[in-house]
Amino acid sequence: MTGNTTFTMIKPDAFEAGNTGLILNKIIENGFKIKALRLTYLRKDNAEAFYAVHKDRPFFNSLVEFMSSGPIVAAILEKENAVEDFRKLIGATNPADAADGTIRKLFAASIQYNAVHGSDSDENAMIEANFFFNQFDRH
Ligand code: CMP
Repeated sequence: MTGNTTFTMIKPDAFEAGNTGLILNKIIENGFKIKALRLTYLRKDNAEAFYAVHKDRPFFNSLVEFMSSGPIVAAILEKENAVEDFRKLIGATNPADAADGTIRKLFAASIQYNAVHGSDSDENAMIEANFFFNQFDRH
């Protein structure tokens, strides 16, 4: 069974480029309801914790550097089959492989500067949502 919640972050590259509004609009147009939204920053220790699963990857330090380099927009999204449908909407991690019309195809520059994050499982969606929002923020 699949859940109806996923988590996304608009990353510092997309925020800096002024694409936050266009990306949120695309998310809404594709049937996702925004349940929580926050403009915030990751300190290095926050980025290290959020991406702890990648700590042994060669790109980890550079990813942490990038993700703490400017504001991000975190959001909880709701839709039937949310995790899978959202990953379809954002496209492949590397924008060079992303399908036409996907958010990464439209707004991402490279495999690292890839504009948005999307949870890869229902379980991680919950963990990632709880990283940025506590239950009292939600309705
Ligand atoms: P995201 O979906 O947020 O999950 C992990 C992130 O690490 C990914 O998006 C990219 O920003 C980054 N990433 C993944 N693979 C690479 C890579 N090969 N080189 C640099 N960054 C990467």
